[in-house]
Amino acid sequence: MPSSSLVAESDLGPVSKGPGTISSTLTTTTPITASMPRGRKVPRHVIPEEVPAAAPVDTSSNEFHFNLKPKEVKAHLDRFVIKQDEAKKVLSVALCDHFQHVRMTRAGLKAPFYTKQNVLLLGPTGVGKTHLIRSAAELIGVPFVKADATKFSETGYVGGDVEDLVRDLIRRTGGDVEKAEHGIIYLDEIDKIAGRDSGGRDVSGKGVQTNLLKLMEDADVAVVSPNDIMGQVQAVMPRPGQPPRPPGETINTRHILFIVSGAFAGLPAIIRNRLASAAGTIPPGGEAALMDQAMTADFINFGFEPEFIGRLPVRVACQPLAEKDLFDVMRRSESSLLRQYERAFKAYGITVKWRADGLRQIARLAAAEGTGARGLMTVCERVLRDFKFELPSSSVDEFAVTRELVQDPKSSLATLLKKTSRR
Ligand SMILES: Nc1ncnc2c1ncn2[C@@H]1O[C@H](COP(=O)(O)OP(=O)(O)OP(=O)(O)O)[C@@H](O)[C@H]1O
Ligand SMILES: [Mg+2]
Repeated sequence: MPSSSLVAESDLGPVSKGPGTISSTLTTTTPITASMPRGRKVPRHVIPEEVPAAAPVDTSSNEFHFNLKPKEVKAHLDRFVIKQDEAKKVLSVALCDHFQHVRMTRAGLKAPFYTKQNVLLLGPTGVGKTHLIRSAAELIGVPFVKADATKFSETGYVGGDVEDLVRDLIRRTGGDVEKAEHGIIYLDEIDKIAGRDSGGRDVSGKGVQTNLLKLMEDADVAVVSPNDIMGQVQAVMPRPGQPPRPPGETINTRHILFIVSGAFAGLPAIIRNRLASAAGTIPPGGEAALMDQAMTADFINFGFEPEFIGRLPVRVACQPLAEKDLFDVMRRSESSLLRQYERAFKAYGITVKWRADGLRQIARLAAAEGTGARGLMTVCERVLRDFKFELPSSSVDEFAVTRELVQDPKSSLATLLKKTSRR
């Protein structure tokens, strides 16, 4: 191999330059930006940590803005999420279908027998389930809310009330009930409301499922919560430029799309037992392959009510991330945590250079953690902890993350400090 290619392979220069300078080979040039609606442009290298709290849908027009096709949505997701192709496809189709349904309904083309394609995303921890939805959130041209299922309780007294999700949608549209009726609700950690015979939230979990399944199907929800005295008072007060809310106004949930996700630890064992007792063959490939075989009966065994799981007809499993995928998560994803480290060091005028062998070693150690891409942060934190502490007070203005550094950060740091103190 010529030595020049060795240099290119070992020096990941373009990636280390920070936001805005990712090399063009790493970005996907798609017509997305061109077809992106006004005012909803997605920043190229910045993905919000959370779905933006206040991302009201443009209410200036009567229509929703969204002109993307499934392939374009997937191309957008490809920029941030490594692997998970099947989940990206399923999600892209579900989002586009939902939008087209909304558009046609609003244009007067009713579909009386339309069945919603609520989506269930499952898969091991840290492989991109939440990240997928976050990355899609900015693209979605309909009102969108996200919540953790764990925050709800059956009665709504201790935790929240699931109906608040629908009211949140109305808030996102600036009070436009009709628009909120076509929104999307994303519920994470859905596996935590499985009602099992033992363990934490059993009884309440079943109650939350029952409340949710009504919403998922077709329910009328009071626009102002009956428990919200302040809201009741505000509702009858005149609002600038808008008429007061009619008393007892409701919002219907028939057209709201639900996307739920969860890690479902324990489900593979249930599937394996079912396959074994039916004398079926256990697929090779471990837990991931088992997840792909999940059937309704398995989810019921896991602790879901049949009516609840039945209302989530589109199911897709995210795949575990192998060492190579973790390398790609760092190297190719626009939301890579390397950007975060570069930023932190840049604040003190220090440039980090990521070498390929260093990143491979980080990926190797992260894979051994068994927590998906979350392991990358664990390893980077451990490796770079002392660098973050010492370098800002030193005269070091540049360092390279090599395999040696990842293997023995303490000696690498000592050598680096000694070298610069002599300069
Ligand atoms: N496939 C991926 N591509 C790029 N980055 C990823 C991927 N998977 C995970 N990450 C990174 O790891 C972080 C954690 O991932 P995420 O929150 O999506 O995990 P999860 O699958 O929802 O896990 P859990 O079941 O524990 O909630 C993300 O914020 C993202 O930075
Ligand atoms: Mg998650």
